[in-house]
Amino acid sequence: MIIVQLSDLHVRPPGVEAYGRVPTNDMLREAVQHVNAMRPRADVVLATGDLVHAGDLEEYAMLRELLAELEMPVYLVLGNHDDRGSFRKVFGDSEYLPATGEFQHFAVEDHPVRLIGLDTVIPGKAGGRLCEQRLAWLEDTLDAEPDRPTVLFMHHPPFRTNIEHMDVIGLEGAEAMGRLVERHPQIERILCGHLHRSIQVRWRGSLASTAPSTAHQVVLDLRPGAEGTFALEPPGYQVHVWSRDTGMVSHTAHVGRFDGPHLFSDDGTGGVG
Ligand SMILES: [Fe+2]
Ligand SMILES: [Fe+2]
Repeated sequence: MIIVQLSDLHVRPPGVEAYGRVPTNDMLREAVQHVNAMRPRADVVLATGDLVHAGDLEEYAMLRELLAELEMPVYLVLGNHDDRGSFRKVFGDSEYLPATGEFQHFAVEDHPVRLIGLDTVIPGKAGGRLCEQRLAWLEDTLDAEPDRPTVLFMHHPPFRTNIEHMDVIGLEGAEAMGRLVERHPQIERILCGHLHRSIQVRWRGSLASTAPSTAHQVVLDLRPGAEGTFALEPPGYQVHVWSRDTGMVSHTAHVGRFDGPHLFSDDGTGGVG
């Protein structure tokens, strides 16, 4: 099973750029084409939040149009730039989303790996939260299928990254979530967004990670007190490949035009790698 993880799409209304300089819609269009061109084809796409930039209906309509080009099912969770109400107005007919209730969390049972999407949104805040109610839902959902390999996906990572301006808008409830993760060894991965970079950590008996953005990246600046900045480093996405033989293996793909591919044998040495 091949899982593509897109993150932090930050879609804007048609013709509008994020921060006045990032053509996020065009960049998502390119990422979608890149994903469709992958062989073997991905089975599913997850998008780990900040689907749109300002939470407007117009942005969600644009997002729906852009994602409609994907040739496989796509499952969406929300980030701090999203708005539950606007999201529901445009995507409320999606079968995997809960029919009732405030939180947009769900489990997808149709694939060899179980996919559990979490809602960490605190309306109007940049940080996220897993409250008791959301954690109780997660515990019940995990308890229902203890033996199936499972991926959790969510926007705010439950771990600290050492990028301080992002850590201060982290996840409330991470400690309680960690205790819960320790009790459920079927969790292969905790896939997150928010950081606009690829970061991995061993966390509470599982592996937790963040994904690059399909648009702008957060600058790798580990100095305490450093101001938050972004840069147009190559955009990308994660590819998580699962089989019984290999377990879950995660790759990073970059979107763009790069020289190559070239055969290793072209220099006459026959060297590979
Ligand atoms: Fe973001
Ligand atoms: Fe975010």
